[in-house]
Amino acid sequence: MTNGGMGSCKRSATGMNEIYKEYDRCWLRYDETRHKNCLSDLGDAVKYLYFNKSGEISRNAYTELIEGITRMTGSRPADTSSLEGPCLVLSVFGMDPKVDSMLIEEDMQSMQVEGFLIKQVNKPPTARLLITSKSERGLLYGVFKFLLLLTQGKSLENIYLLENPKNKLRMINQWDNLDGSIERGYAGRSILYSDNVLAKDRERITFYARLLASIGINGIVLNNVNVHREETRLIDDRIDIVRQLADIFRGYGIRIYLSINFASPIDLGGLSTADPLDMDVADWWKKRADYIYSHIPDFGGFLVKADSEHRPGPYTYGRNHADGANMLAAALKPHGGLVIWRCFVYNCQQDWRDKVTDRAKAAYDNYKYLDGSFDANVILQVKNGPMDFQVREPVSPLFGAMEQTNMMLELQITQEYTGQQRHLCYLVTQWKEILEFDTYATGEGTPVKSIVDGSAFGREHCGMAGVSNIGSDHNWTGHYLAQANLYGYGRLAWDPDLSAEEITLDWIHCSFGNDPVVVDVVSEMLLSSWPIYESYTAPLGIGWMVNPNHHYGPNVDGYEYSRWGTYHKADFQAIGVDRTKVGGTGFTAQYREPNFLRFESLETCPEELVLFFHRLPYTYRLKSGKTVIQHIYDTHFLGVEQAKQLRSKWESLKGRVDTERFGHVLSRLNEQVEHAKEWRDVINSYFYRKTGIPDEKGRTIY
Ligand code: GCU
Repeated sequence: MTNGGMGSCKRSATGMNEIYKEYDRCWLRYDETRHKNCLSDLGDAVKYLYFNKSGEISRNAYTELIEGITRMTGSRPADTSSLEGPCLVLSVFGMDPKVDSMLIEEDMQSMQVEGFLIKQVNKPPTARLLITSKSERGLLYGVFKFLLLLTQGKSLENIYLLENPKNKLRMINQWDNLDGSIERGYAGRSILYSDNVLAKDRERITFYARLLASIGINGIVLNNVNVHREETRLIDDRIDIVRQLADIFRGYGIRIYLSINFASPIDLGGLSTADPLDMDVADWWKKRADYIYSHIPDFGGFLVKADSEHRPGPYTYGRNHADGANMLAAALKPHGGLVIWRCFVYNCQQDWRDKVTDRAKAAYDNYKYLDGSFDANVILQVKNGPMDFQVREPVSPLFGAMEQTNMMLELQITQEYTGQQRHLCYLVTQWKEILEFDTYATGEGTPVKSIVDGSAFGREHCGMAGVSNIGSDHNWTGHYLAQANLYGYGRLAWDPDLSAEEITLDWIHCSFGNDPVVVDVVSEMLLSSWPIYESYTAPLGIGWMVNPNHHYGPNVDGYEYSRWGTYHKADFQAIGVDRTKVGGTGFTAQYREPNFLRFESLETCPEELVLFFHRLPYTYRLKSGKTVIQHIYDTHFLGVEQAKQLRSKWESLKGRVDTERFGHVLSRLNEQVEHAKEWRDVINSYFYRKTGIPDEKGRTIY
């Protein structure tokens, strides 16, 4: 492989100094040895490039195109000002009448603002290949799509490809703090900040912007949802950091947003209250918004974690969350800004002896009754599950419950509860299940994806947010293969209809090339990895059996007697929480029919979630014919074997993958196998000791 993705600073094929010398290029490798023949069916079309110079994003699109083609083919397309001969044409609609005349009415009608069209005009030898959009941002997306097609070596003959993003907001949430730490970061330090100032390596930030744009991301929240003292000042005397970051991300079509501290009027403004209905408070936020927009005219808006895990919020003043969100929305409205309000609100001071309170019910209870009360520029951002990014949870019942409210889905790309980028756990398969889950909100066929793209209820501002998994590590994500999670998130945010298999293949082609053996093996590894991780960590929908605080490694009772509301209630006879309406906490009743009855009844409850919804004796027989306890033993023994198989699959790629990545991934898989054994033995021993029921197969349990 010629582009191992790193190495010394060298002159690139485009004649520019390599800017990515210090780190891996992820899926933007464009390995030059692989793609020699993929352009042949277009004749000379890619040897010349007609480009209508316009704004900054278009110029970046042009640079991406030149760089990608040059790296892949070994020769740089020549600029041309003639549209007569064969050439690539790159132009935003409305900029050049000659180019516009290549479009027909139908193209124009179908293309939305951020969409793009790639289309062949004429036949070789005078074939022209047009990449166009109604916006510069769309043009950039079109270029990345074109480069993806080349990477896959797909035929471009007679191409006509028109794509529009399904979700309007496709956001990344950084949980970075200004001191350079990252909340739940598993890949080094922040690439954005260090010691309370902007990080020095702007090139790396720029490369991140390129990575994000290449998968269609159009918004980034720059700081952690838990806004501490220094970050509170980002909307004050630290605004220049935000401005500089906005300048970088803008060039790649990415708007910036900030997490804010709801108590800022007190902490920054010296007011005695942050009551959202207080006139002085509202006025303070209005002036603050004016100030922010005077520095960053295209600022996206605020992300708010309020009344959650000790963060301040409207409840302190006896107000509800619509009061809080609408007050901020009014301040941002004149500037076109949005308030993205998180629904991760629950009682984190619960007494474990309290049998009535059920954390799973909290988001619905806090928000459902407010449907219709939120202003048009407010969006509720809801985590995929009712608890907190566990390995397995049901979909949050809030999706589909709020017909008059803008909703966004929040996913966690960073693997807090799913192996912390030390274990392989590809989450695209999980996210697909979530997006396809039918809420029945408008009858059968109202999947989560139709709620979050706004189509189910005709909502305007909707979309997806993913908590980023990157950091300063050379390979960005700690585990090389965890790059696939970031990639897959972006692709799904653009188009939730894509299959996990399709996205996986695209990522592998871009990251590892077209060797069919590598493609098959890596794809198998990724697609099987989430169920494998689940099998040795989270049986039948039981979560939270992790070490408190850092959340890595097994600890069955780690959260059992704590205040966080996350109990499995295992005793010597039974395990699980009864969340049924009849006899339980009533959580099941938050779902619409027929989901309510499906979860309520043991007969129909999906088995992978059965202990989330029901409390069962260890001797209860599952549909497989196994008892609950035997299922726990079996999956934990099996999980270790499967982790070993992941490792041997990877070992079979020796010599087919560059030594850096081969060795690094292998070391992670070795750790995964050892750590899976730890999970197996801790969990199995715990339940054996608790129940006294031996393993039917007589395997070693301690
Ligand atoms: C989880 C996570 C926290 C985070 C919180 C949130 O609880 O452990 O670190 O702040 O989610 O999403 O707000």
